[in-house]
Amino acid sequence: MPGVVVVSNRGPLSFRLDATGDPVLAGTGGGLAGTLHPMLAGTGATWVAASMNEADRLADARGLMVEDGIRIVTLAPEADVYRMAYDVVSNATLWFCHHHLFDLPRRPRFDHHWRQAWDAYRTLNRSFADAVATVAEAGAIVLVQDYHLSLTGSMLAKSRPDLRTVHFTHTPFADPNMLRSLPSFAAGDLLSGMAGFSACGFHTARWEAAFRSSFADVELATFAGTGVAPRTFTAPLGPDPGAIVAEAASPSCAAARAELDELVGDRALIVRVDRVELSKNLLRGFWAFEELLETRPDWRGRVIHLALAYPSREGLADYLAYRAEVEHTVERINQTWGTAEWTPIVLDVADNRDRSVAALSRYDVLLVNPIRDGLNLVAKEGPLVNTTDGVVVLSREAGAWEELSTGAVGVNPFDVTGTALALELALGMDSDERAARSARLRNVVLGRTAADWLADQLAAGGPAAPSETA
Ligand code: G6P
Repeated sequence: MPGVVVVSNRGPLSFRLDATGDPVLAGTGGGLAGTLHPMLAGTGATWVAASMNEADRLADARGLMVEDGIRIVTLAPEADVYRMAYDVVSNATLWFCHHHLFDLPRRPRFDHHWRQAWDAYRTLNRSFADAVATVAEAGAIVLVQDYHLSLTGSMLAKSRPDLRTVHFTHTPFADPNMLRSLPSFAAGDLLSGMAGFSACGFHTARWEAAFRSSFADVELATFAGTGVAPRTFTAPLGPDPGAIVAEAASPSCAAARAELDELVGDRALIVRVDRVELSKNLLRGFWAFEELLETRPDWRGRVIHLALAYPSREGLADYLAYRAEVEHTVERINQTWGTAEWTPIVLDVADNRDRSVAALSRYDVLLVNPIRDGLNLVAKEGPLVNTTDGVVVLSREAGAWEELSTGAVGVNPFDVTGTALALELALGMDSDERAARSARLRNVVLGRTAADWLADQLAAGGPAAPSETA
């Protein structure tokens, strides 16, 4: 794909420092970089991304940021600018805003420090736009990923009007009333930045509609200086079925599965695979599991809840505090209900992809209960590799619900009792219904893959069809 430039904050290769201070490859932790990387390998596409930390910067300086068939262009932002743009604005403000996570009586606190951080966000977006303007061929299609880079649309429209620029949002998009909590200049920057793209894509019609209705909100449209939304489209992402099935069949995954077999024995298995992330709603998942144990004593000792939850964004106090709360909750539940032979919840915070895929291949119930989620790839990966006709219990607030509602058991993620009842229903479901639901989920997921999602973005970068409205 020469002539295609992909732009994202996190690039295809992430590094960490080993004990001797040398940069070594780290996992991407799934997410969008993990999905795009295998799709772009060998295509000749250009990928512009940031060095996110010291390890990345060192790796880049030592010439390690190379990948066959991808031209990686790395930005090395000043550490302070990057921290403010990534931690304070992208993670602590925009992520919270789009996921409706603000604890409004206390946060957000848009003071003068925050304004400095917003300036850093602008600066970082400007560096990305400048890098793209430098490397993109005439008329190239530029695929910008996610909320870290919302402002690059209007910047590129000015500096390189020849480019066809597409923005894809992997999170939900905030409802207009939530967006109105941002200082007016920031909401205005955000919307006018995004209006500068040739087209903006979302995982679901719901997030697309929220984005469009921001432009219909008189206040927000005034801040943005425009009442006109860009062209928009919905294109849900899906896993690459070949890739995940191959992972599940690998010897390392088989070894991880053997370990799980030993851990679980003949008990039922409820699995979750998430980052330790506030939007993922781990706490209510554990409370619901506890309520199941309380109300259905016959399940005590007969079910294990395996929670694979790897740490994320530990530069933020909220995430550290949440992790501590998750760990305490698990400890308390295990102390209350566990016995010498049985640990009700097994919490594993290691980022171990083999173990995650093995758990997905083996669950009886997969719990995916986010408060709000752009899509949730785990809900789609599970049915592809699961060999036990496991049931997916899925939040109706996850983007994936739009496609998976025909096979999954839906839950309101805030309703702990409702979630406990859904777990109970899933655990007790008869084998015919389990098989029918699994088959339906698999068919839906196989019907739309990662390649379709990428093709939709490339198509959106083309000229507008006459019937499309701006
Ligand atoms: C998840 C989200 C993406 C986001 C990514 C960034 O995958 O779904 O919307 O871009 O996280 O995560 P990071 O670890 O790079 O902050």
